[in-house]
Amino acid sequence: MRQRGEWAIVTGGAGFIGSAVARELRERGVRVAIVDRNVPQHQDVDAFVRGGIEHERTWLTLASELAGASIRSLFHFAARTSVLQSVHDPHDVFASNLVGYENALEFARTHGTERVLFASTNAVVGAGDTGVISERSPLVPLTPYGATKAAGEMLGSAYGASYGMRVASVRLTNVYGPGMWHKDSIVPRLFRHVAGLAEATIYGTGEQVRDFVYIADVVDAFVRLEEMGYHGAVAFGAGTSVSVNELVDLVSDVVDCELRLRHVPAKAGEMPGVNVDLSLARSLGLKADVELSEGLRLAWEDFQAEQGRAAG
Ligand SMILES: NC(=O)c1ccc[n+]([C@@H]2O[C@H](COP(=O)([O-])OP(=O)(O)OC[C@H]3O[C@@H](n4cnc5c(N)ncnc54)[C@H](O)[C@@H]3O)[C@@H](O)[C@H]2O)c1
Repeated sequence: MRQRGEWAIVTGGAGFIGSAVARELRERGVRVAIVDRNVPQHQDVDAFVRGGIEHERTWLTLASELAGASIRSLFHFAARTSVLQSVHDPHDVFASNLVGYENALEFARTHGTERVLFASTNAVVGAGDTGVISERSPLVPLTPYGATKAAGEMLGSAYGASYGMRVASVRLTNVYGPGMWHKDSIVPRLFRHVAGLAEATIYGTGEQVRDFVYIADVVDAFVRLEEMGYHGAVAFGAGTSVSVNELVDLVSDVVDCELRLRHVPAKAGEMPGVNVDLSLARSLGLKADVELSEGLRLAWEDFQAEQGRAAG
């Protein structure tokens, strides 16, 4: 049972998923402290520390901001998230994603914060041997980004076994939805293409399959896993995959305009296919309710509203 006045720390709370989780927690009466190198563009925050999570001083500042507070959980979203960029600059992704996460776990351990929720990724699994990704799939990342997340899962395992902490490592697929317009992932790229802001291209044939999960379902999954004090890895996504070409067709329907995109060679580190087995997630009561066509419609509405705001 959650007590009144309890705090949750949300690292990366200025970003796409972290800001949505911060909003949900505050609606549930939890006090939220955000740690991020960027200033949040929203009001869903009770304390904010600006700084890199890889720097000890950031955590010292947080400790003094929250002195004497009861901190129930730490949601860890801060990370360098570009898979392709991680191939060009592995050192940078290592500092943010691994050193930064270890600092977060140490903060939690030394402040009696027993529940940690870690945003992992299906990219820890790589090509996979069966074509189906689950929490039982062996860790064989194809990129430095995937490797830092795989190592993060190992740290979570160790903090559970050594200190009795409950650390959930949630292997997310492609998350999409309102609030993601700063990102370089495929849905925002397609919408920017439609709006004439930047050309989108397709890597390879476009027949590679992906799993797209709506942001509200992801927020709900994190909140549920926190409430049950889940420990260990769990794969979470929509549970149905579509090819990139099919995604383009769905976006064409939503924006009511046929998209014709140039194909370019596939990049190093691209996963050949993503199909996720949600058996464990479902047995824990996690649900991906929002259909892709409906989620894309909601995302497009938000994108257009954002364009309107940006235009003043
Ligand atoms: N969005 C997805 O499809 C997806 C899929 C799998 C996993 N994830 C994971 O979920 C988490 C959140 O992703 P997102 O889509 O919200 O990304 P995002 O880029 O919108 O948010 C990440 C936030 O972390 C902050 N940040 C980055 N490096 C930092 C550092 N060193 N110190 C402090 N702050 C730092 C950024 O300023 C940003 O606000 C990430 O850990 C990502 O790896 C996301």
